[in-house]
Amino acid sequence: MRTIVTMPGDGIGKVVTPEAVRLLDAAGFKANYEHGDIGWEFWCKEGNALPQRTIDLLKEHKIGLFGAITSKPKDAADKELDPSLQGKGYSYFSPIVAMRQLFNLDICTRPCISFKGNPLNFIRKKIDGTFEEPMVNTVIFRQNTEGLYAGVEWTNPPKVVRDALETNPKMKAFAHVPSEEMAISTRIVTKKASERIIRAAFEYAKQFGYKNVTICEKPNVLRETSGMMFKIGKQIAKEYPEIALWDTNIDAQMMWLTKNPEDYGVIVAENMFGDIISDGFAGLIGGLGFACSANIGEEVAVFEPTHGSAPKYEKLNPSIVNPIAMFMSACMMLEHIGENEIAARIKKAISAVIEEGKVRTYDMMKLRGGADVFEKGACTTQQMTDAVIAKL
Ligand code: NAI
Ligand code: MG
Repeated sequence: MRTIVTMPGDGIGKVVTPEAVRLLDAAGFKANYEHGDIGWEFWCKEGNALPQRTIDLLKEHKIGLFGAITSKPKDAADKELDPSLQGKGYSYFSPIVAMRQLFNLDICTRPCISFKGNPLNFIRKKIDGTFEEPMVNTVIFRQNTEGLYAGVEWTNPPKVVRDALETNPKMKAFAHVPSEEMAISTRIVTKKASERIIRAAFEYAKQFGYKNVTICEKPNVLRETSGMMFKIGKQIAKEYPEIALWDTNIDAQMMWLTKNPEDYGVIVAENMFGDIISDGFAGLIGGLGFACSANIGEEVAVFEPTHGSAPKYEKLNPSIVNPIAMFMSACMMLEHIGENEIAARIKKAISAVIEEGKVRTYDMMKLRGGADVFEKGACTTQQMTDAVIAKL
């Protein structure tokens, strides 16, 4: 039997993860679950938010289902570290970034798909004054390990860095700026990683019947890095004659986000651009309660809702948060391991609950979060799970 490493993490991660397991069980998915420690608690107690034992579990079982973690600024991190560990050289590092780097989880997939009847769906005014509700069905492939988020950056860059940069004539414009007054973040794009993300995007489009793949970059300005991605995109596209290759500039894409989002199938972009577009599209389909994601490497894959630990709601019992983003992440996990039938059944059940509209979490009712949302008709997290299970 397959083993899934569940990493609830902090705050509402601890609420939505067990709900996902309950749903997976009810849907007939047979698996063992091994608990992996991750998050703020382990930073405070052990000085490491991603303990080695959790890394070992992921190495062994390859598939992780992750809730959310809390992270806090440096001062708070230092203060909350166990007194016996303070002053011993521990420094906080995000366990999510650590996981991505350790296992080279370079392909981030973020589907943004509207559910019929979701009151949070984007609507658009038509010329005759009536409204239309475009059904968005876009899957963003975000390069997850390099680009602007690779972390190769300096404030007050050392002389060797400046010397190297000055081999580029464009640096003349900065010749008079003292290094202490300069910050530099690099955007590094490699052929291998670009090929992997673009190929993954085309393969996905082929498997799930999307008609176009859009490279969303800015090659007219970022001539080297965006230029490389676009060139590779053109080469790979030749292998998929049935799928159209489109290209958009990131800025224009954000403008078109509300004009014609329903036209875009699969979108592929560098790390930061992918981060931006996926949040933009997620807003059209209901936001954080619905936004799911996968981080896929050559061996290990980790599935997670894109929301954080929502600390202001973690103590509410019963919980008010929407577990659907987590459920959809679990469905991505099922599809990744070939359990497409169970995934399809769960997604159908979720769609039915949303369309029926009887059971809604507070966010779906556009309420301000708090213990009083139940009086106003919102369901609990657990009731949402029950409703989905009842529809299976
Ligand atoms: P957040 O995603 O936790 O919350 C943002 C807003 O959305 C809050 O109003 C929250 O209550 C609401 N929300 C989040 N998930 C929801 C759900 N499932 N249903 C209904 N409402 C939901 O982001 P925030 O507040 O910026 O960060 C809180 C903590 O989470 C921080 O420590 C941050 O570092 C961490 N974080 C962790 C992430 C991860 O684990 N992947 C991602 C983003 C933030
Ligand atoms: Mg983001």
